[in-house]
Amino acid sequence: MLILGIDTSCDETAAAVVRDETTVLSNVISSQGIHVEYGGVVPELASRAHLALLLPAIESALQQASCEPDGLDAIAVTYGPGLAGCLLIGLSTVKSIAMAMGKPLVGVNHIEGHVFAGRLADGELAPPFIALVVSGGHTQLVLVEDWGRYRILGNTRDDAAGEAFDKVARLMRIGYPGGPVIDRLSRDGDPGFLDFPRTYLDPDGFEFSFSGLKNAIRMYLSGQTEAAIDRDRAHIAASFQEAVVDVLVDKSVAAAAAAGVDAILITGGVACNSRLRERMTERGAESGLRVVYPPPILCTDNGAMIAAAGAYRFRNGQRDGLSLSVQPRARLADLNGAGMNGGTARP
Ligand code: KG4
Ligand code: ZN
Repeated sequence: MLILGIDTSCDETAAAVVRDETTVLSNVISSQGIHVEYGGVVPELASRAHLALLLPAIESALQQASCEPDGLDAIAVTYGPGLAGCLLIGLSTVKSIAMAMGKPLVGVNHIEGHVFAGRLADGELAPPFIALVVSGGHTQLVLVEDWGRYRILGNTRDDAAGEAFDKVARLMRIGYPGGPVIDRLSRDGDPGFLDFPRTYLDPDGFEFSFSGLKNAIRMYLSGQTEAAIDRDRAHIAASFQEAVVDVLVDKSVAAAAAAGVDAILITGGVACNSRLRERMTERGAESGLRVVYPPPILCTDNGAMIAAAGAYRFRNGQRDGLSLSVQPRARLADLNGAGMNGGTARP
């Protein structure tokens, strides 16, 4: 089964061809450099860039996979969550292509796509397991009871973890996106240089909050000279990163224990973070947990994860019609109980 998967939920224009739910044949990601000068994604600019980049990305994905459009079994596309204008470009493009070619259309929830990146990365990963979905837009702990059946254990109450990385990098004026920059800088820094707050909220709960940490850094920076910030950049970055990683690791391991599962998937852009991978692997080994993280190219937004989730849904009978609309605030839990047959019975 060959599936073309498309994601335009944020600032990556992504198209990929995947065989079944397991094999990536191509994975084209056109990043939109235009947002760098603003230090964050500008939704209107992102939509326009998708419009220019999407068809070439689809052509390259088909070419790299040596796949004739006629050979596709279905086309999967993200309907949400994400930026409304951006989702709209992806969905309308895919609707037109699907209609013109007479191919079935399958709508995919972007977060479920991040979960299926784990399926692509590790064929042995099988539910039940805990998924920590950490990206620029989301920080969620999910109990994956089965593929397609999700129990949300906790969300962020304010900033997503990746958003915190991006905002702190902006405060430190070290570039965008902040995650990779802070990750690199931190390798030369002392994570114990500053003791920033770790926000656990209810210690037995699985909710996150990162805005207090961001404000603590803002306060710290406002009391320092430019020269001191410049001198200590790597230490400040490493101390911030450690505070984020501590909470992510503690809560994920606690969630696995509470749910009685023996595997954790870390996925989403922040799952590229080298310190998070290192610390999660250490803690996993101590606690007898298998820790799975996809390669970076499958962690950040990509079309292959959408194609994999789409392949699963298509195989289970999901077909969407032209009435499928974008859902910028789509929730993973809404998939539970929404039948796959005959289209998406989503609220
Ligand atoms: O999954 P993604 O591509 O897009 C969303 O769905 O949001 O994630 C992008 C986020 C950005 O906030 C970026 O700073 C963060 O992932 N990120 C990282 C790293 N690489 C990307 N955060 C920490 N460390 C990294 N190495
Ligand atoms: Zn994402």
